[in-house]
Amino acid sequence: MCGIVGYVGAREKRGILLEGLKELEYRGYDSAGFAVLTGERGSEQMQSFKATGRLKNLADKTKDFAFNGFGLGIAHTRWATHGKPTEINAHPHTGEFSYVVHNGIIENYKELKDELQALGHTFLSQTDTEVIVHLFEQHFSQCNDPRSAWERTAKRLKGAYATLLITKAAPDRIFYAKHGAPLIIAGKGTESALGSGRESKAHESLESAQGAERPQIEIYFASSDAPLIGLVDMVVYLEDGAVGDSSDFATLSPKVPLSHSKSFAQKDGFRYFMEKEIYEQEQVLLETMLGRVKEDAIVLDEIDPALFDGISEISICACGTSYHAGMVGKYLLERMAGVRTNVVLASEFRYAKPILLKDELFVVISQSGETADTLEALKLAKSQGLRTLAICNVDNSSIVREADAVLLTRAGIEKGVASTKAFATQVMLLWILATFLGVERGVLGERERERERANMIAAIAATKVSQNLHERIKRLSKRYLHGHGFFFIGRDVFYPLALEGALKLKEISYLHAEGYASGEMKHGPIALVDANLFTIALMPKYLLHEKIASNVEELSARDATICAIAQEEFALADDWIAISQAGSYMEEFFAMMVALQLLSLEIAVRLGNDVDMPRNLAKSVTVE
Ligand code: F6R
Repeated sequence: MCGIVGYVGAREKRGILLEGLKELEYRGYDSAGFAVLTGERGSEQMQSFKATGRLKNLADKTKDFAFNGFGLGIAHTRWATHGKPTEINAHPHTGEFSYVVHNGIIENYKELKDELQALGHTFLSQTDTEVIVHLFEQHFSQCNDPRSAWERTAKRLKGAYATLLITKAAPDRIFYAKHGAPLIIAGKGTESALGSGRESKAHESLESAQGAERPQIEIYFASSDAPLIGLVDMVVYLEDGAVGDSSDFATLSPKVPLSHSKSFAQKDGFRYFMEKEIYEQEQVLLETMLGRVKEDAIVLDEIDPALFDGISEISICACGTSYHAGMVGKYLLERMAGVRTNVVLASEFRYAKPILLKDELFVVISQSGETADTLEALKLAKSQGLRTLAICNVDNSSIVREADAVLLTRAGIEKGVASTKAFATQVMLLWILATFLGVERGVLGERERERERANMIAAIAATKVSQNLHERIKRLSKRYLHGHGFFFIGRDVFYPLALEGALKLKEISYLHAEGYASGEMKHGPIALVDANLFTIALMPKYLLHEKIASNVEELSARDATICAIAQEEFALADDWIAISQAGSYMEEFFAMMVALQLLSLEIAVRLGNDVDMPRNLAKSVTVE
């Protein structure tokens, strides 16, 4: 979704801002822009540039510009919410002497816009964001103090926002405000100038930076870690309600180390991040298990055991792929831990007046930790006194900070918009949790715990991509480019896997695909069946094999084109994607997951689509 980068310092600003935005590209966007404010006090120059489409368009448009010397820059990638993805609607938005960028939604923008228009402000765009800059300039005209004008502006904003503003009224600092959307500030420079919670004030140094003795101080802002990796070591994840300017950095706390390594962010010779992330699954799943699944115990020492005391049921709440992982979790938790589990879509949960029980554990699952619906659902459950647990991939994300307890999935940065390795680690963690609770609740004995551990290890090995499998799927994919749609079918945990397979295909190939419980086909969808309806059938050997086989037979009798994903060939299928020999249904699950991911990838590649940045999608959905 939208991305923000900001910079205060003496380095060339166009390069820094474009590089920063590039790191946020994977989140999805449809236009981009930046604004800079440079020059000595009294002769400041402010300029902005915008372009629709890919960042390259913005880079081409600005290739003859360089902004050296001390100054400020703010930049943004926009994913349209209010108003079309046009250049006018792209950020930064401007008033008379300031520019603003913003992630999130200003819910009361109509009211503010009417008020400001009545006061003579002219609006150029259809966005909610533009009210921020006009509101600031309006307050500044009244108080002539930029800091106070900014604080008054932030007070009037309702909704979710992370926003940066630069203004000629204060050419040495970037103003920020954060509520409900992530924003990070980081600093680099001499320790005395940046401070570490002591009395020193960075803005004093920044002011002296206008003069001859300019210390090398730099302040960065970003809406997520990625643009900061390699540039700074310590960051501050701003809290909701944070309002201030870059000169506050010295006094902000807590400063925490930035932990990711840049190598995760590279494609390492793969064609796409999604492809690399599919291949990485074996490695990251081992990370998920590390220290948790031991030879003689399942250990979740990140969690206070009291979290599980006396729980009568579990509710899992999530969106999209994470919701599918949650559905898998329901089967596992009920089967292995004997605890009743509901799975709800966060966007539905929020407004449904859900009945919550005091002894219910509320689990949210989110790759990004920033999904607005999931975050709000979590807040709602917390406000009703429920115990909450987040299964999340991003440490320090809003969801992680909100939940009572956290299990990190440890998938590393996922850049492909279509989630792969994050899903794999979510399912693995739910499997670990189900085994843990199964043992705690006396449902599983020692032998069963050992069996699950062995199955987990085998399942991880089954995610290793063999060249045979990948080549087979590459060749097969050319037969699945036409037709009037796909049905992915499965039963039990293979039903949410079918939903996930269909979602992957939809996201990157733009072909119509549905996931269905195979037993449901005869209750309606079978009417669609003909030779041009492609059925991808998940046919495990170890779970309800006969049942799914008879469902596939029903489709075959009506001439559906069937591709079976299975250990053994199924005579009635037209095509067969053979998974490696497996000893348990969960091992089959993980092997089939990889086959489905590769199938979507290869179909999308043949169709010439941008696999890592599919149209209309965003990596992190920070609007409801
Ligand atoms: C699909 C996908 C999305 C996300 C959904 C929730 O490939 O990635 O469906 O799963 O937007 O996002 P998170 O998990 O970040 O809460």
